[in-house]
Amino acid sequence: FVFNEPNFDAHEQVVFVSEPKSGLKAIIAVHNTHLGPAMGGCRMWNYASEAEAVTDVLRLSRGMTYKNAVAGLPIGGGKSVIIGNPKTDKTPALFEALGEALERLGGRYVTAEDVGTSPADMAHVAQKTSFVAGLGASGDPSPFTALGCFVGAQAAVKHQLKRDSMEGLIVALQGLGHVGYDYARRLHAAGAKLVVADIDQAALERARRELGAEVVPVDSIYDVQADIYAPCALGATLNPNTLGRLKAKIVAGAANNQLATADIGEALRQKGILYAPDFVINAGGIIKVCYEYLSKPEADVEAHVRQIGDTLAEVFARAEREGLPTSVVADRVAEQRFKPA
Ligand code: NAI
Repeated sequence: FVFNEPNFDAHEQVVFVSEPKSGLKAIIAVHNTHLGPAMGGCRMWNYASEAEAVTDVLRLSRGMTYKNAVAGLPIGGGKSVIIGNPKTDKTPALFEALGEALERLGGRYVTAEDVGTSPADMAHVAQKTSFVAGLGASGDPSPFTALGCFVGAQAAVKHQLKRDSMEGLIVALQGLGHVGYDYARRLHAAGAKLVVADIDQAALERARRELGAEVVPVDSIYDVQADIYAPCALGATLNPNTLGRLKAKIVAGAANNQLATADIGEALRQKGILYAPDFVINAGGIIKVCYEYLSKPEADVEAHVRQIGDTLAEVFARAEREGLPTSVVADRVAEQRFKPA
């Protein structure tokens, strides 16, 4: 089935790892190394089948190539998945076995934490290989993801609303987690009004208290009379069901894979909604992790993250000029960088 998988043929290398002693079953996908070693996190998930794990890792690794290229980083794209339950199946030996597998790849792929894995797990990987990033040496990358979202939202406001200020704009923000809360704080400081939804009551209370946010039920976030919709929780929230409900003229949020299907990009364009492509606006975290891994000066990270605003301004302008969805233009910008001439 792998050879029929639509994302498969674009990959440089896909490695299936099986290590009976630790019980490790993993797949490492190296999508593209034209710009440098493939970098992307290691997801641990209780996949229903191996086929599902293959589909996931191929899709995610391809996405990392695009994200890293658009962010102007000297790295390629890859991803790995461990098939197992992150709540019950984790052992140091499991992650050490992954480290050994990475070592055998000789640095073509560098891993980091992702959904289901933590800096502590990566410390076990690091026992066996140096091809691991995001050990948490200088903390959580989420504030940099939030900064990227904020400068991205500023670029969107300038393009779409012809305004330099966020003052008085209404932002419907979904998900007050590591990224969402920090993003909300920046929006609030810039004078925006927040309408928020989350399943975590404590986060909502805090946003109400500290940021004067108005709270709405989880499913009502799509109906808010807002200027900006900021998805910072789940993927695929831009779908046929929500499209007709959104009032915002801008979508600018951190969530991965916001478009349920690729054609939603064109649907947004036709509705006059400016979409900041997820993999462009949410690259702040990987920029931070990459700087740390390559021992580049920490003091330069913020300036690099702020370039997300300039990149988005170019994507918006080109999309308008060429009559294309911003998602398509962002893909083309990435491809121009990672595909050899
Ligand atoms: P997180 O797990 O800290 O926060 C997610 C928040 O969404 C939580 O507060 C959770 O209660 C809330 N939530 C869950 N279901 C919800 C629902 N149905 N409606 C409203 N809220 C709901 O995750 P984090 O790190 O803040 O990431 C947020 C999104 O950004 C994810 O999609 C993640 O993949 C993406 N992302 C995160 C990066 C980072 O640096 N942390 C980097 C790039 C992307």
